[in-house]
Amino acid sequence: MRVLLTGHQGYLGTVMAPVLAAAGHEVTGLDSGLFADCLLGPAPADPPGRRVDLRDVTAEDVAGVDAVIHLAALSNDPLGSLAPELTYDINHHASVRLARLARDAGVRRFLYASTCSVYGAAGGGELVGEDAPLRPVTPYAESKVRVEDDLHELADGDFTPVFMRNATAFGFSPRLRADIVLNNLVGHALLSGEVLVVSDGTPWRPLVHAADIARAFTAALTAPREAVHDRAFNVGSEVNNVTVAEIADQVAAAVPGSKVVITGETGADPRSYRVDFSRFRAAVPGFDCEWTVKQGALELADAYRGFGLTREDFEQRFTRLAVLRAASGAGTVDDTLRWRP
Ligand SMILES: NC(=O)c1ccc[n+]([C@@H]2O[C@H](COP(=O)([O-])OP(=O)(O)OC[C@H]3O[C@@H](n4cnc5c(N)ncnc54)[C@H](O)[C@@H]3O)[C@@H](O)[C@H]2O)c1
Repeated sequence: MRVLLTGHQGYLGTVMAPVLAAAGHEVTGLDSGLFADCLLGPAPADPPGRRVDLRDVTAEDVAGVDAVIHLAALSNDPLGSLAPELTYDINHHASVRLARLARDAGVRRFLYASTCSVYGAAGGGELVGEDAPLRPVTPYAESKVRVEDDLHELADGDFTPVFMRNATAFGFSPRLRADIVLNNLVGHALLSGEVLVVSDGTPWRPLVHAADIARAFTAALTAPREAVHDRAFNVGSEVNNVTVAEIADQVAAAVPGSKVVITGETGADPRSYRVDFSRFRAAVPGFDCEWTVKQGALELADAYRGFGLTREDFEQRFTRLAVLRAASGAGTVDDTLRWRP
């Protein structure tokens, strides 16, 4: 298939592009490149792509494309809270516009990167399935719910939107992020000897490896239409339904000499949910996630050591909020996160 991959220079897109290519798809990218230089280790071989803002896409960007995988976004809860209106502009309005252009151009499938954050403070009691009430607690999660709603209205016999609600990602990507929980805790452990949990550690935070997300999207691309048409899927596996304290224990085991420090304060982030991932396995028989949290912690510790992660990179280069603040402070992007000429 000819696949347009938005966000191909992001954390997940950088891992997904080669997985799609290996499956035989012809990939082109589209990204404004906000984090293109946030590399740990050698630069990846990106697919051919256009450096363009999602808000400026035109019919030309989707002409001749069979499927769109839409990852580009201001992509986590703290970023969304920084500038809610901007989050709605980019994540909601521009995404729906892209989907409309795609549908008008005859694109048949549109895989949308949603998030389990849409479940908000569901708690750890029942496993949360896709039909559970959505309780977004941040502008980021709210923007994802709005896109799902609007894309649902666009679904028809020729246009198949699919809502991939990813658990929180972890694992190595050449374009690393240190602001997601496992990646963050492994970095802290290596750099300071402490696995620092700034909460009481009780919130549930289902995790999924970036490579498993890439495999899930690749499978959803060619799954029979009736299995995925206009449906939401949680992406992850029950074995990685873990509390933050359990994640910290796995990190301490992966980084010898480090110790867990749980500050015990009420965390700023009220999200907590345990998720049922069975619907996607049923829709795409044979699919399952391969990575556990323990394997991911070991992988990250090796990569951080091997590529010489520094404290400055950890706190600045790989923390999206810090990168955007620095770009804004230096005047390279304007208030709307567009590059200045
Ligand atoms: N990483 C996770 O834990 C996770 C979990 C659930 C869902 N998701 C979703 O998956 C997608 C990818 O996440 P990620 O972790 O790779 O995020 P990321 O921040 O690493 O990458 C997002 C990419 O989008 C691009 N982008 C941002 N604004 C843009 C704009 N206006 N125009 C064009 N490009 C723009 C950025 O340059 C970046 O390359 C996002 O939609 C995110 O919400 C991620």
